[in-house]
Amino acid sequence: MMLRVPEVLSAQAIARVRSIIDTADWSAGVNTLTPGRNNRQLPEDGKAARAARALVLDGLSQSAMFVTGTLPRNIFPPLFNRYDGAANDYGKHVDSAVRTWAPAGTHLRSDIAATLFLSDPREYEGGELVIEEAYGAQTIKLRAGELILYPASKVHSILPVTRGSRLAAVFWVESMVRDDEQRRLLYELDMSILALRGRHGDNAELQRLTGCYNNLLRLWATP
Ligand code: NI
Repeated sequence: MMLRVPEVLSAQAIARVRSIIDTADWSAGVNTLTPGRNNRQLPEDGKAARAARALVLDGLSQSAMFVTGTLPRNIFPPLFNRYDGAANDYGKHVDSAVRTWAPAGTHLRSDIAATLFLSDPREYEGGELVIEEAYGAQTIKLRAGELILYPASKVHSILPVTRGSRLAAVFWVESMVRDDEQRRLLYELDMSILALRGRHGDNAELQRLTGCYNNLLRLWATP
């Protein structure tokens, strides 16, 4: 399931994150180890990344759409990357299935990949996230503060940035429901129940549907 989550960060929160990372020292973040990867990343345990990460995690925890769409068991601490100048693209690849958080030596299975856009599309040219699908490629470039969630199993790439800078936070989610199709069904059911309750108020049928949601979650979740 691909899910676009609007306004994970408010304009105010974006401004705060940007004031931290725009002035950070990116020079240590050049990556030459991963084939195809040509971007910069803030040192994961540095002061700037830690401060900006706290703001991003705060936004995520308040997003009902993020929580119901991912059913998170673990969230990898968001990393901050930058595409511009000579370090401006990332070729086609699949993310590692198991991500290790070096500062703590902990591991997480990457079920869902996430990109939170931190630059306004008007700030840069190129830099689209391209996700390969059986029916063709999806090209994604969202507003600052918007989040895209997609299965971490997908081949994806970042097109070259030819003007300006593209800043984003990236992270992975290990879900309580590993299977993408099961997660999608739960999401559809949950969203429909919420909409029906908003339209009609609570009633016996909605209570039974809510029971179905919870009992499916009970069958499929590994908390
Ligand atoms: Ni990737």
